[in-house]
Amino acid sequence: MIHPDCERILISAEEIAAKVRAAGEWLTEKFRGKFPVAVCNLKGSGVFFCDLLRAAQIDAEMDFMAVSSYGSDTVPGRPKITRHLFSSVAGRDVILVEDIVDTGRTLVTLRRFFAERGAKSVTVVALLDKPSRRVVESCADYTCFEVGDYFLVGYGLDYAERYRNLPYIAVLKENVYAK
Ligand code: PRP
Repeated sequence: MIHPDCERILISAEEIAAKVRAAGEWLTEKFRGKFPVAVCNLKGSGVFFCDLLRAAQIDAEMDFMAVSSYGSDTVPGRPKITRHLFSSVAGRDVILVEDIVDTGRTLVTLRRFFAERGAKSVTVVALLDKPSRRVVESCADYTCFEVGDYFLVGYGLDYAERYRNLPYIAVLKENVYAK
C-alpha cells in the first residue's frame, strides 16, 4: 500500500533490494582482505547504509557523520558538517555511503574532508544520482539508480523529516510540499 502523500512508487522495495545486493557484491570484491571504515552520512543514508553493509561480505568498521545541505525546506545551502566521526580516517580506506548525489556539493565537501584528514582512499557508493541537478563536477564510484528531477521520499529520503521509513522510493505529491 502506497503512502497517501505519495503520487507513485518510482523504485520498489524489490528493485532496491536487488541493486543493494549488487552493490554489496561490488564492495566485497573491492575490499576483500582489507579493513575499510564505512561512513554513513546521516540521516538520509541510514537505511541504505545498514542494508548495504549487510549485503557486503567485508570486514568493515561502521562510522557515522552528518553533513547538512538543506533545512526543513528545499532551498540548497552550503553543506555543513554537523556531526563528526567517532574514529580517525588517517591512513584508512574510506567507503562513503550516500543516499543521493544532487548538486554534488556534499560529495565535494566530504571528499575534501577525508583528504584533509589523510584518508588512504575514498570510495563513494550512492543509492541515487540526479545528474540533471548537478552544479559542481562530482560523482560516486558506484551508483545504484539514476533518477530524474522528482521530489523523492522513502528508503531514507525525507521531506520535513517524514517518510524516511518507507520501504520504497516514491514521488511525493506536489500539494504536500507546495503547501
Ligand atoms: C541530502 C543527501 C545528501 C545531500 C546531497 O542530505 O542525504 O547528503 O543532500 O545533496 P547535494 O548533492 O546537493 O549536496 P540532506 O542535507 O537533505 O540531509 P539528510 O540526509 O539528513 O536528509
